[in-house]
Amino acid sequence: MLTLNINGKEQQVAADPDMPLLWVIRDLLGLTGTKFGCGVAQCGACTVHLNGEAVRSCVTKVSRAAGQKVTTIEGLSQNNDHPLQLAWAEFDVPQCGYCQSGQLMSAAVLLRENPNPTDQDIDDGMSGNICRCGTYPRIRAAIHKAAQLQREGAKS
Ligand code: FES
Ligand code: FES
Repeated sequence: MLTLNINGKEQQVAADPDMPLLWVIRDLLGLTGTKFGCGVAQCGACTVHLNGEAVRSCVTKVSRAAGQKVTTIEGLSQNNDHPLQLAWAEFDVPQCGYCQSGQLMSAAVLLRENPNPTDQDIDDGMSGNICRCGTYPRIRAAIHKAAQLQREGAKS
């Protein structure tokens, strides 16, 4: 048995320590917001936070996450009110939606580390997340908007 802290809750999982974290999240814990894309750390669809950093859960062994804090898209905010989620809705970012939870998890780290990113900062920070639908312009616009919301929130 491994103990994981998932979205603020301790969970016991009967998993082989070598099992990819993604499989544990989706198959054992039923948190299906995180997606399987390439399986080889190339597309970013499986991005979650491990102690606040973005990791590719498809290539992260669950043993690495034992005793650590894992956040999935389901735990990004309490009420879907993270500035990114508000901006994503306003700009109607998703097309098929498949890549979007990974995009949001990467964007959340980007925004935490750089509250006022330029276009180039966004393109660089998001370069590991592929969208086959080509929603990049809306992603970029929504990250700018989220940065603005975050700054306004920080002031109030
Ligand atoms: S599924 Fe993990 S990076 Fe593509
Ligand atoms: S919205 Fe379809 S893959 Fe990104």
